[in-house]
Amino acid sequence: MRGCRDASQPAPAMAGAQSKDRYARKLLLLLLCGGYYSVVARAADDARSYKVLAVGSLKAEVVCSVTPAPSSGATVPLNHRHGPCSPAPSAKVPTILELLQHDQLRAKYIQRRWSGKKGTDDLQPLDLTLPTTLGTALDTLEYVITIGIGSPAVTQTMMIDTGSDVSWVRCNSTDGTTLFDPSKSTTYAPFSCSSAACTQLGNNGNNCSNSQCQYMVQYGDGSNTTGTYGSDTLALSASDTVKGFQFGCSHHEEGFNREKFDGLMGLGGDAQSLVSQTAATYGKSFSYCLPPTNRTSGFLTFGAPNVTSAFVTTPMLRWPRVPTFYGVLLQDISVGGTLLGIQPTVLSNGSVMDSGTILTRLPRRAYSALSSAFRSGMTRYPRAAPVGILDTCYDFTGLRNFSVPTVELVFDGGAVMDLDYDGIMISDCLAFAATSGVSIIGNVQQRTFEVLHDVGQGVFGFRSGACS
Ligand SMILES: *[C@@H]1O[C@H](CO)[C@@H](O)[C@H](O)[C@H]1NC(C)=O
Ligand SMILES: *[C@@H]1O[C@H](CO)[C@@H](O)[C@H](O)[C@H]1NC(C)=O
Ligand SMILES: *[C@@H]1O[C@H](CO)[C@@H](O)[C@H](O)[C@H]1NC(C)=O
Ligand SMILES: *[C@@H]1O[C@H](CO)[C@@H](O)[C@H](O)[C@H]1NC(C)=O
Ligand SMILES: *[C@@H]1O[C@H](CO)[C@@H](O)[C@H](O)[C@H]1NC(C)=O
Ligand SMILES: *[C@@H]1O[C@H](CO)[C@@H](O)[C@H](O)[C@H]1NC(C)=O
Ligand SMILES: *[C@@H]1O[C@H](CO)[C@@H](O)[C@H](O)[C@H]1NC(C)=O
Repeated sequence: MRGCRDASQPAPAMAGAQSKDRYARKLLLLLLCGGYYSVVARAADDARSYKVLAVGSLKAEVVCSVTPAPSSGATVPLNHRHGPCSPAPSAKVPTILELLQHDQLRAKYIQRRWSGKKGTDDLQPLDLTLPTTLGTALDTLEYVITIGIGSPAVTQTMMIDTGSDVSWVRCNSTDGTTLFDPSKSTTYAPFSCSSAACTQLGNNGNNCSNSQCQYMVQYGDGSNTTGTYGSDTLALSASDTVKGFQFGCSHHEEGFNREKFDGLMGLGGDAQSLVSQTAATYGKSFSYCLPPTNRTSGFLTFGAPNVTSAFVTTPMLRWPRVPTFYGVLLQDISVGGTLLGIQPTVLSNGSVMDSGTILTRLPRRAYSALSSAFRSGMTRYPRAAPVGILDTCYDFTGLRNFSVPTVELVFDGGAVMDLDYDGIMISDCLAFAATSGVSIIGNVQQRTFEVLHDVGQGVFGFRSGACS
């Protein structure tokens, strides 16, 4: 069964589909592989280079439990903000077009910061061609964790963001359901204006009001939050607490849709992020697994996993002008088992690995090569009209199952991410887009992998099938 991407394929440096397909898919894949061999002439190559999806498997049941890897660190469940596993499901679910428009804002925000001379959130708002009613760059943040803040702990649903550092919670919410009120916590303390924590905020505040440190985060697209910078106890889980967690108590937010989340957890690489704050405990290392759909759960873990042999690794790039960002050197992409042969200069600036950007953005030349190779492998299906910026779309109407070419991202050092089906396609379109800015590895492609950010050691690790 050389062709069937399953348990026995010997591929040591590969983090891929072998062990990760959901059970139903795996079963179907096995069935189909058998089918291909007996029926279709070019079966051997096909089965090796295609991922098969049954339409029926799209209606997978809701499974909101989490199975994190063993770790000596702290693990919290991570869920899609819009979906049945969300602790606070949104009333309004964005359409795919809305999501893609938000995603353009997010990508521009990341790219502008990457190329900007300033290394902080302090940027002029973008010249937006999109109406602000569509929301902000933060509206693409799709993943939330539930933690507790204060004593007694108040449960808070926080969006996670690897593209920013300062964490904040709403201390002034009008719905009042999960409001964190600092005056009711016995462990809360605002920072004084002269404190090191306040000074460290730099362009994210360092303002003073009633002798209390004021923070401000401006997200580059005009949205912003201001309030008091202080500290309190953070409960990641019943057994894992972080004393003196530094965060903003937001009194005022602008530009956000009044969505049901309580705040934002900054996981960037700069000093204020939770990752940096917990460096002494967790070694400046964290990982997450983003679930493939909004019907299953993933996890966020602080601290290195116990067993690193399951990860393929690549050096982590950092850019001194934007200490927030984590980067990787993508070297090439293979489609259906064949490398595109992307020129090294095309990707030599590195790629930002971002949890908050949805689609992977590639330089035009790389995207064209990818899209055309993918189309060559999809000639058996009728093309469909573009969906927003997605231009490689298919009409699978009436098919009980279909298959798409495998897509593998090949990184510096040989680490390979063999993308999950849900990491290749979104809304029946290839989930990549061309860009003239810096490349971004988006969250669609990261789904189902445990993505280890070992910031201390300067290493990225990928473990396939971690939350499929
Ligand atoms: C992980 O390793 C730590 C020691 O490094 C150990 O205390 C812990 O029990 C291990 N956890 C699991 C789930 O194996
Ligand atoms: C979950 O995701 C699907 C597919 O993207 C979408 O159609 C659906 O509206 C989402 N459900 C919720 C409750 O957000
Ligand atoms: C600093 O605080 C003052 C008074 O509270 C306020 O008017 C001003 O907008 C703040 N500046 C920033 C950058 O937050
Ligand atoms: C905060 O956001 C609002 C709405 O986008 C904007 O009008 C205002 O100028 C922003 N404030 C700052 C200090 O950037
Ligand atoms: C709460 O926020 C709203 C708008 O964000 C603002 O108008 C109001 O003054 C705030 N209230 C308090 C008590 O801070
Ligand atoms: C690399 O980044 C620099 C600075 O933004 C830019 O001028 C250059 O065009 C980029 N190179 C590539 C190949 O994208
Ligand atoms: C997959 O679809 C093809 C064509 O629609 C069909 O011939 C085949 O029987 C299907 N296989 C399964 C397992 O549903």
